[in-house]
Amino acid sequence: MSEPTQPGGSADPSAAVVPHPLDSDAVSRTVDNALADIAAAADLGELKGARIAHTGEKSPLSLANRGIGALAKDEKAAAGKNIGPARSRINQALAARTTELEAERDARILVEEAVDVTAAPRRRRAGARHPLSILQERVSDIFVGMGWEIAEGPEVESEWFNFDALNFKPDHPAREMQDTFFVEPPEAHLLMRTHTSPVQVRAMLERDLPLYVLCPGKVFRTDELDATHTPVFHQFEGLAIDRNLSMADLRGTLEHFARLMFGDDAGIRLRPNYFPFTEPSAELDIWHPGAKGGPQWIEWGGCGMVHPNVLRAAGIDPEQYSGFAFGMGIERTLMFRNEVGDMRDMIEGDVRFSEHFGMEI
Ligand code: DAH
Repeated sequence: MSEPTQPGGSADPSAAVVPHPLDSDAVSRTVDNALADIAAAADLGELKGARIAHTGEKSPLSLANRGIGALAKDEKAAAGKNIGPARSRINQALAARTTELEAERDARILVEEAVDVTAAPRRRRAGARHPLSILQERVSDIFVGMGWEIAEGPEVESEWFNFDALNFKPDHPAREMQDTFFVEPPEAHLLMRTHTSPVQVRAMLERDLPLYVLCPGKVFRTDELDATHTPVFHQFEGLAIDRNLSMADLRGTLEHFARLMFGDDAGIRLRPNYFPFTEPSAELDIWHPGAKGGPQWIEWGGCGMVHPNVLRAAGIDPEQYSGFAFGMGIERTLMFRNEVGDMRDMIEGDVRFSEHFGMEI
């Protein structure tokens, strides 16, 4: 509702006629005018305007009252009897209208600001953290707990970091178009990184030795989306470079990690394998005591001792330092750790899927 404060029409004091204090007809007309304005005031704002117009210092009756002083002595009493009651009538009318308008306002506020305590609550569902993010953080926390640092690298990567520096020969099949998303133009030699291993090289170039880093992140391959493949997925990469590191350090680290992830009964097994960037290289299996079909060995990722060519590409002397590395997929880990049968459930964004993993914020 609007709150006009300007008195209008006959309420304008400058336009109002000041009655002669002895002219009872003129005083009556002034009172009638005032009462009409007071009755017409639609809200407290308008009433305030009428109050100023008819009782303020410059109102006709105030000015008339002031005029009494100039009258002859015997006229003063008559003028007072004329003006005094007129002013009280206006004040009474103002008080009565104030009470009325305040009651109206209170009644309106009660309606407008009423809270319907029986109304149904708004059913906006709280979101849930994505289980992949939760798992990625759990892995990161475990390594941070061992004193490792978290390292990140770009998702659009140069071919050199993704392949060359990792000892992939120029004709390695993984470079081929059917595996790798290359970024145009070809002469820029940019691609969507196919694994998190390029962050190893970046970390070795950027950080001081000894070096213990975990590199979680998104990776890309030209796979079709199905129950066990997705073209965008996540990996975490571990890299340790120090003096005298051996395969035993790799084993111990992975075993500790496996137990924190899968329970005290978990174990690991290394099977010889080939990766261009490690020598020797191994496939890492985990003994998963809580697996769906009963305790069993499950293929988890790759690992090995960092190849001397990789150390050299990052400016590290392989005679002085050695290192180990490992890499696993986060989606795959979630699948066998939490019995997710279909990878597509992880990327559809249905909160009902995420809710099963808790409502961590
Ligand atoms: N980069 C490999 C992949 O994407 C995984 C991997 C294997 C990482 C062995 C490593 C490693 O650090 O030592 O399949």
